[in-house]
Amino acid sequence: MPKWCVVVGIVAAFAVMGCVSSSRFEELFQPDWALDHFTYEGELVKMKLDSYSGAGFSSKRKYMYGKVTVQIKLIEGDSAGTVTAFYMSSDGPYHNEFDFEFLGNTTGDPYLVQTNVYVNGVGNREQRLNLWFDPTKDFHSYSILWNQRQVVFLVDETPVRVHSNMEHKGIPYPKGQSMGVYSSIWNADDWATQGGRVKTDWAHAPFIASYNEFQINGCECSHRIAAADNMRRCSSTANKQYWWDQPTHSGLSLHQSHQLKWVRANHMVYDYCSDTTRFPATPLECLHHHHGRH
Ligand SMILES: *[C@@H]1O[C@H](CO)[C@@H](O)[C@H](O)[C@H]1NC(C)=O
Repeated sequence: MPKWCVVVGIVAAFAVMGCVSSSRFEELFQPDWALDHFTYEGELVKMKLDSYSGAGFSSKRKYMYGKVTVQIKLIEGDSAGTVTAFYMSSDGPYHNEFDFEFLGNTTGDPYLVQTNVYVNGVGNREQRLNLWFDPTKDFHSYSILWNQRQVVFLVDETPVRVHSNMEHKGIPYPKGQSMGVYSSIWNADDWATQGGRVKTDWAHAPFIASYNEFQINGCECSHRIAAADNMRRCSSTANKQYWWDQPTHSGLSLHQSHQLKWVRANHMVYDYCSDTTRFPATPLECLHHHHGRH
């Protein structure tokens, strides 16, 4: 909790309720592997990749619907061959997954952000964009909003991708499975940078990604409760007890749809929907694509 919360919390208990969602790393997350590749500087968490190992962390709890946000400052200088990922995923062979993958580059060349959506164990829905800022110079926020109507990927609150629920057209939608929140950093020089042509230069290791301002605003799933009960509790649309189930979050706002249009026109470099080599038959959800506006 930020310091001011503690002070305000003594005065008014409800103020504490208002700020618990922006928590310290250790309240929400735990390192998963390579614990010696983590460093903590106040609220900052740094994860490094070197020739020995990458590193990764995960949320302590699982969630069904909500919004997760982290601030990340990506690897400075030469990051070619590296991938830093921030994602949500459920477990099992028919898992759902929402990915942000930050593909490194040589010094001065732009990072690429790859997003992907897995539904019932099947991915292959990559989109790639470059950013309208240098993500290695400062912290920027990366969010995933997930409700029963849409999955929205946001960069500094600007939507960069929407995956809408089109079950009414017979297209499966990722729902009903609780998801953890994850981040990791690893070497992927077989594909990440310029299609794998540029390899990781270990002379420039360690490669460090920094994190700040962890927020999870979601319906927590307890493993002490049966899956069906978690589902009922977290997907109660009737009383709209969760803010992400409010009608305003069932699609993008007009302003957001303009923002997404701008991103797609100016920053998108790859969209699986228009890759006819990979998909001679256009994927169904692409045919009905309307950029999220209802
Ligand atoms: C790296 O920079 C090159 C040259 O600007 C660019 O073509 C490429 O898309 C960038 N990103 C990756 C991940 O290769």
